[in-house]
Amino acid sequence: MDIISSLSDLRAARLSFEGTVGLVPTMGYLHEGHLSLVSRARAENEHVIVTIFVNPTQFGANEDLSKYPRDLDRDLSLLRPLGVDVVWTPSAEMMYPPGYQTWVEVEALTHPLEGSMRPGHFKGVTTIVAKLFNATQPHKAYFGQKDAQQVAVIRRMVVDLNFPLEVIVCPTQREADGLAMSSRNKYLNEAERKAATVLFRALRAAKELYEAGERDAEILRIKMKEVLEMEPLAKMQYVSCADYDSLEELDVLKGRALLSMAVFLGKTRLIDNFVLG
Ligand code: PAF
Repeated sequence: MDIISSLSDLRAARLSFEGTVGLVPTMGYLHEGHLSLVSRARAENEHVIVTIFVNPTQFGANEDLSKYPRDLDRDLSLLRPLGVDVVWTPSAEMMYPPGYQTWVEVEALTHPLEGSMRPGHFKGVTTIVAKLFNATQPHKAYFGQKDAQQVAVIRRMVVDLNFPLEVIVCPTQREADGLAMSSRNKYLNEAERKAATVLFRALRAAKELYEAGERDAEILRIKMKEVLEMEPLAKMQYVSCADYDSLEELDVLKGRALLSMAVFLGKTRLIDNFVLG
Protein backbone atom coordinates (compact mmCIF):
# COMPACT_ATOMS: atom_id res chain seq x y z
CA MET A 1 0.00 0.00 0.00
CA ASP A 2 1.58 3.29 -1.12
CA ILE A 3 0.90 6.34 1.01
CA ILE A 4 1.18 9.38 -1.21
CA SER A 5 0.70 13.04 -0.46
CA SER A 6 1.91 14.83 -3.61
CA LEU A 7 -0.23 15.20 -6.72
CA SER A 8 2.62 14.26 -9.07
CA ASP A 9 3.24 10.97 -7.24
CA LEU A 10 -0.48 10.22 -7.30
CA ARG A 11 -0.61 10.86 -11.06
CA ALA A 12 2.43 8.64 -11.63
CA ALA A 13 0.82 5.83 -9.60
CA ARG A 14 -2.47 6.27 -11.44
CA LEU A 15 -0.73 6.12 -14.84
CA SER A 16 0.94 2.85 -13.87
CA PHE A 17 -2.44 1.16 -13.21
CA GLU A 18 -3.86 -1.14 -15.83
CA GLY A 19 -7.49 -2.14 -15.50
CA THR A 20 -10.27 -0.56 -13.49
CA VAL A 21 -9.76 1.81 -10.58
CA GLY A 22 -12.17 2.13 -7.67
CA LEU A 23 -12.04 5.31 -5.58
CA VAL A 24 -13.18 5.62 -1.97
CA PRO A 25 -13.09 9.30 -0.92
CA THR A 26 -13.02 9.79 2.86
CA MET A 27 -12.26 12.39 5.50
CA GLY A 28 -10.45 9.76 7.59
CA TYR A 29 -11.18 8.55 11.11
CA LEU A 30 -12.36 5.42 9.39
CA HIS A 31 -15.05 3.07 10.72
CA GLU A 32 -16.75 -0.09 9.47
CA GLY A 33 -18.87 1.98 7.08
CA HIS A 34 -15.77 3.22 5.22
CA LEU A 35 -14.17 -0.21 5.33
CA SER A 36 -17.25 -1.75 3.71
CA LEU A 37 -16.84 0.73 0.82
CA VAL A 38 -13.17 -0.22 0.49
CA SER A 39 -13.99 -3.96 0.49
CA ARG A 40 -16.61 -3.45 -2.19
CA ALA A 41 -14.16 -1.38 -4.27
CA ARG A 42 -11.53 -4.10 -3.81
CA ALA A 43 -13.95 -6.80 -4.99
CA GLU A 44 -15.03 -4.85 -8.08
CA ASN A 45 -11.77 -3.31 -9.38
CA GLU A 46 -8.20 -4.16 -10.26
CA HIS A 47 -6.94 -1.16 -8.26
CA VAL A 48 -8.24 0.77 -5.25
CA ILE A 49 -7.41 4.33 -4.27
CA VAL A 50 -8.56 5.69 -0.90
CA THR A 51 -8.31 9.41 -0.29
CA ILE A 52 -8.10 10.90 3.19
CA PHE A 53 -8.70 14.64 3.27
CA VAL A 54 -10.64 16.65 5.84
CA ASN A 55 -12.13 19.11 3.39
CA PRO A 56 -12.28 22.57 5.01
CA THR A 57 -14.74 24.03 2.48
CA GLN A 58 -17.59 21.71 3.46
CA PHE A 59 -17.54 22.89 7.09
CA GLY A 60 -19.66 25.88 8.04
CA ALA A 61 -18.35 28.76 10.15
CA ASN A 62 -20.10 27.35 13.25
CA GLU A 63 -18.93 23.76 12.58
CA ASP A 64 -15.68 22.95 14.26
CA LEU A 65 -13.28 21.87 11.51
CA SER A 66 -10.32 21.91 13.90
CA LYS A 67 -12.05 19.42 16.22
CA TYR A 68 -12.92 16.94 13.44
CA PRO A 69 -11.38 13.62 14.59
CA ARG A 70 -8.14 12.64 12.86
CA ASP A 71 -5.87 9.60 13.32
CA LEU A 72 -3.89 8.80 10.18
CA ASP A 73 -1.84 5.96 11.71
CA ARG A 74 -4.99 4.18 12.84
CA ASP A 75 -6.63 4.74 9.42
CA LEU A 76 -3.61 3.29 7.62
CA SER A 77 -3.50 0.25 9.86
CA LEU A 78 -7.20 -0.38 9.16
CA LEU A 79 -6.64 -0.05 5.39
CA ARG A 80 -3.47 -2.20 5.13
CA PRO A 81 -5.22 -5.61 5.35
CA LEU A 82 -7.80 -4.61 2.74
CA GLY A 83 -5.55 -4.65 -0.33
CA VAL A 84 -5.63 -0.91 -1.06
CA ASP A 85 -3.10 0.15 -3.75
CA VAL A 86 -2.80 3.84 -2.87
CA VAL A 87 -3.85 6.08 0.01
CA TRP A 88 -3.72 9.69 -1.09
CA THR A 89 -3.49 12.31 1.65
CA PRO A 90 -3.30 15.69 -0.10
CA SER A 91 -2.75 18.88 1.88
CA ALA A 92 -5.27 21.73 2.09
CA GLU A 93 -2.71 24.04 0.43
CA MET A 94 -2.53 21.72 -2.58
CA MET A 95 -6.28 21.30 -2.94
CA TYR A 96 -6.97 25.01 -2.36
CA PRO A 97 -3.93 26.96 -3.57
CA PRO A 98 -3.63 30.64 -2.62
CA GLY A 99 -6.14 32.75 -4.57
CA TYR A 100 -8.48 29.79 -5.03
CA GLN A 101 -11.77 30.77 -6.73
CA THR A 102 -13.14 27.81 -8.72
CA TRP A 103 -16.23 26.00 -7.46
CA VAL A 104 -18.57 23.24 -8.58
CA GLU A 105 -22.15 23.78 -7.52
CA VAL A 106 -25.27 21.63 -7.98
CA GLU A 107 -28.41 23.75 -7.71
CA ALA A 108 -31.95 22.65 -6.66
CA LEU A 109 -30.94 19.31 -5.12
CA THR A 110 -28.70 21.06 -2.61
CA HIS A 111 -31.39 23.44 -1.34
CA PRO A 112 -33.55 21.26 0.99
CA LEU A 113 -32.62 19.09 3.99
CA GLU A 114 -28.90 19.25 4.81
CA GLY A 115 -28.45 22.09 2.34
CA SER A 116 -30.96 24.27 4.18
CA MET A 117 -29.25 23.66 7.53
CA ARG A 118 -25.65 23.80 6.30
CA PRO A 119 -25.34 26.62 3.75
CA GLY A 120 -22.35 26.12 1.45
CA HIS A 121 -21.79 22.53 2.61
CA PHE A 122 -22.59 20.86 -0.71
CA LYS A 123 -20.64 23.44 -2.70
CA GLY A 124 -17.61 22.31 -0.70
CA VAL A 125 -18.47 18.63 -1.19
CA THR A 126 -19.02 18.80 -4.95
CA THR A 127 -15.92 20.93 -5.47
CA ILE A 128 -13.63 18.55 -3.58
CA VAL A 129 -15.21 15.42 -5.04
CA ALA A 130 -14.81 16.83 -8.57
CA LYS A 131 -11.16 17.56 -7.78
CA LEU A 132 -10.66 14.04 -6.39
CA PHE A 133 -12.26 12.57 -9.52
CA ASN A 134 -9.98 14.69 -11.73
CA ALA A 135 -6.88 13.63 -9.84
CA THR A 136 -7.63 9.91 -9.52
CA GLN A 137 -9.63 9.26 -12.72
CA PRO A 138 -11.62 6.35 -11.24
CA HIS A 139 -13.95 4.01 -13.12
CA LYS A 140 -16.14 3.63 -10.04
CA ALA A 141 -16.50 5.81 -6.93
CA TYR A 142 -17.96 4.47 -3.70
CA PHE A 143 -20.17 6.41 -1.25
CA GLY A 144 -22.37 5.41 1.70
CA GLN A 145 -26.16 5.64 1.67
CA LYS A 146 -25.95 7.23 5.14
CA ASP A 147 -25.25 10.56 3.40
CA ALA A 148 -28.28 10.20 1.14
CA GLN A 149 -28.39 13.78 -0.09
CA GLN A 150 -24.65 13.81 -0.74
CA VAL A 151 -25.12 10.72 -2.92
CA ALA A 152 -27.99 12.35 -4.85
CA VAL A 153 -25.96 15.53 -5.38
CA ILE A 154 -22.81 13.70 -6.50
CA ARG A 155 -24.81 11.55 -8.91
CA ARG A 156 -26.29 14.71 -10.42
CA MET A 157 -22.83 16.28 -10.73
CA VAL A 158 -21.44 13.16 -12.43
CA VAL A 159 -24.23 13.24 -15.03
CA ASP A 160 -24.13 17.02 -15.52
CA LEU A 161 -20.34 17.26 -15.87
CA ASN A 162 -20.04 14.03 -17.92
CA PHE A 163 -17.60 12.37 -15.53
CA PRO A 164 -16.87 8.97 -17.13
CA LEU A 165 -17.44 6.96 -13.95
CA GLU A 166 -20.09 5.07 -12.04
CA VAL A 167 -21.25 6.12 -8.58
CA ILE A 168 -21.74 3.07 -6.36
CA VAL A 169 -23.90 3.53 -3.29
CA CYS A 170 -23.31 1.10 -0.42
CA PRO A 171 -25.68 0.36 2.50
CA THR A 172 -25.39 2.21 5.80
CA GLN A 173 -23.42 0.21 8.38
CA ARG A 174 -25.00 0.16 11.83
CA GLU A 175 -23.96 -0.66 15.39
CA ALA A 176 -25.76 -3.63 17.00
CA ASP A 177 -28.37 -1.27 18.49
CA GLY A 178 -29.12 0.40 15.14
CA LEU A 179 -27.04 3.59 15.42
CA ALA A 180 -25.62 4.43 11.98
CA MET A 181 -21.82 4.39 12.00
CA SER A 182 -20.29 7.86 11.75
CA SER A 183 -16.98 9.45 12.67
CA ARG A 184 -19.03 11.95 14.69
CA ASN A 185 -20.35 9.23 17.07
CA LYS A 186 -17.03 9.64 18.86
CA TYR A 187 -18.23 12.98 20.26
CA LEU A 188 -21.17 11.40 22.15
CA ASN A 189 -20.91 10.92 25.90
CA GLU A 190 -22.33 7.76 27.45
CA ALA A 191 -25.86 9.08 27.94
CA GLU A 192 -25.95 10.67 24.48
CA ARG A 193 -24.67 7.47 22.90
CA LYS A 194 -27.55 5.53 24.47
CA ALA A 195 -30.06 8.16 23.42
CA ALA A 196 -28.67 8.28 19.86
CA THR A 197 -30.53 5.09 18.92
CA VAL A 198 -33.62 7.31 18.78
CA LEU A 199 -32.86 8.18 15.14
CA PHE A 200 -32.99 4.52 14.15
CA ARG A 201 -36.07 3.95 16.31
CA ALA A 202 -37.93 6.89 14.73
CA LEU A 203 -37.08 5.74 11.21
CA ARG A 204 -38.08 2.19 12.04
CA ALA A 205 -41.44 3.32 13.50
CA ALA A 206 -42.23 5.26 10.31
CA LYS A 207 -41.14 2.33 8.16
CA GLU A 208 -43.45 0.01 10.11
CA LEU A 209 -46.37 2.32 9.33
CA TYR A 210 -45.35 2.30 5.66
CA GLU A 211 -45.15 -1.49 5.66
CA ALA A 212 -48.61 -1.63 7.20
CA GLY A 213 -49.88 0.32 4.17
CA GLU A 214 -49.64 3.98 5.25
CA ARG A 215 -48.87 6.24 2.26
CA ASP A 216 -49.59 9.69 3.76
CA ALA A 217 -46.15 11.33 4.05
CA GLU A 218 -47.26 13.72 6.80
CA ILE A 219 -48.32 10.80 9.00
CA LEU A 220 -44.84 9.29 8.61
CA ARG A 221 -43.21 12.64 9.46
CA ILE A 222 -45.45 12.98 12.55
CA LYS A 223 -44.54 9.45 13.67
CA MET A 224 -40.81 10.22 13.43
CA LYS A 225 -41.28 13.47 15.40
CA GLU A 226 -43.29 11.68 18.10
CA VAL A 227 -40.56 9.10 18.65
CA LEU A 228 -37.83 11.79 18.70
CA GLU A 229 -39.79 13.91 21.18
CA MET A 230 -39.92 11.00 23.62
CA GLU A 231 -36.12 11.15 23.98
CA PRO A 232 -35.23 14.07 26.30
CA LEU A 233 -31.60 14.29 25.13
CA ALA A 234 -32.55 14.54 21.46
CA LYS A 235 -33.26 17.88 19.77
CA MET A 236 -34.76 17.45 16.32
CA GLN A 237 -33.53 19.74 13.56
CA TYR A 238 -35.68 18.31 10.75
CA VAL A 239 -37.53 15.19 9.69
CA SER A 240 -38.40 14.59 6.08
CA CYS A 241 -40.31 12.21 3.86
CA ALA A 242 -39.21 13.18 0.36
CA ASP A 243 -39.05 11.84 -3.17
CA TYR A 244 -35.88 9.73 -3.45
CA ASP A 245 -34.62 11.42 -6.62
CA SER A 246 -35.79 15.04 -6.41
CA LEU A 247 -35.65 15.27 -2.57
CA GLU A 248 -38.89 17.28 -2.66
CA GLU A 249 -41.23 16.75 0.30
CA LEU A 250 -44.07 14.36 -0.54
CA ASP A 251 -47.77 14.47 0.23
CA VAL A 252 -48.41 10.88 -0.82
CA LEU A 253 -45.81 8.12 -1.26
CA LYS A 254 -45.89 6.54 -4.70
CA GLY A 255 -42.41 5.49 -5.91
CA ARG A 256 -39.18 5.41 -3.95
CA ALA A 257 -39.10 7.73 -0.94
CA LEU A 258 -36.42 8.88 1.46
CA LEU A 259 -37.15 9.18 5.18
CA SER A 260 -34.43 11.31 6.70
CA MET A 261 -33.62 13.41 9.75
CA ALA A 262 -31.02 15.51 11.53
CA VAL A 263 -30.97 15.44 15.32
CA PHE A 264 -28.73 17.00 17.94
CA LEU A 265 -27.55 14.91 20.88
CA GLY A 266 -25.94 17.59 23.02
CA LYS A 267 -23.59 19.40 20.64
CA THR A 268 -23.31 16.48 18.23
CA ARG A 269 -25.41 16.61 15.10
CA LEU A 270 -26.36 13.19 13.68
CA ILE A 271 -28.16 12.32 10.45
CA ASP A 272 -29.76 9.08 9.33
CA ASN A 273 -32.20 7.84 6.69
CA PHE A 274 -34.15 4.87 5.36
CA VAL A 275 -35.14 4.33 1.74
CA LEU A 276 -38.72 3.12 1.22
CA GLY A 277 -40.12 1.39 -1.81
O1 PAF B 1 -18.59 11.79 2.95
C1 PAF B 1 -17.48 12.30 3.19
O2 PAF B 1 -16.69 11.80 3.98
C2 PAF B 1 -17.10 13.59 2.49
O3 PAF B 1 -18.19 14.42 2.31
C3 PAF B 1 -16.36 13.36 1.16
C4 PAF B 1 -17.25 12.68 0.13
C5 PAF B 1 -15.11 12.52 1.39
C6 PAF B 1 -15.94 14.70 0.57
O4 PAF B 1 -15.09 15.40 1.43
